Amino acid sequence: MLRQVQETDNLQLVIIEEAAQVSPWSLEVFERCFTAGSLGWVIEYDQQVVGFVIILIQVGEGHILNLCVHPHYQHQGFGEKLLKKVFQVAEQQKATIIYLEVRITNHRAIRLYKKLGFQLISSRKNYYTTSDGHKEDALIFAQAMKAE
Ligand SMILES: CC(C)(COP(=O)(O)OP(=O)(O)OC[C@H]1O[C@@H](n2cnc3c(N)ncnc32)[C@H](O)[C@@H]1OP(=O)(O)O)[C@@H](O)C(=O)NCCC(=O)NCCS
Repeated sequence: MLRQVQETDNLQLVIIEEAAQVSPWSLEVFERCFTAGSLGWVIEYDQQVVGFVIILIQVGEGHILNLCVHPHYQHQGFGEKLLKKVFQVAEQQKATIIYLEVRITNHRAIRLYKKLGFQLISSRKNYYTTSDGHKEDALIFAQAMKAE
């Protein structure tokens, strides 16, 4: 089931982050994000939250701030479902474009973004720190929304 995030989900979002991300967000980061007006959706499966997406839509531009599926539940279509929800909300809110940043080595995520039509528009050199303390580039993808 796909539903909008609730404040009581935050702890579970941290658990998913810590299981799946190289540099996981803390509880404070999630709280700040929602206080600042970001929107989130979660996937519930087996009666627990197993994945989420967070976006910020401002002045007609959407930014995907986080997308994460617990490793036990990956590659079952949940990431794709969450991104399709983002497209729906971005269209409803009249966003004309959606941006996201991804580590250059995150091949799974890049494959998913390309599959759903995102296009590589730019990169940032040495933007992220890797788990062994090195630096790696960020790739910036974008997708234009259909005008109504
Ligand atoms: C990236 C991520 C969100 C994808 O979520 P997911 O639920 O596993 O993705 P889906 O099952 O919807 O897969 C959709 C597509 O993603 C790609 N993909 C997902 N898992 C993959 C894997 N293990 N191997 C290769 N491709 C994969 C494929 O293109 C797949 O399409 P296909 O099934 O037709 O081949 C998930 O791997 C994740 O949470 N990773 C850790 C956090 C992260 O990297 N977030 C993105 C930060 S920018």
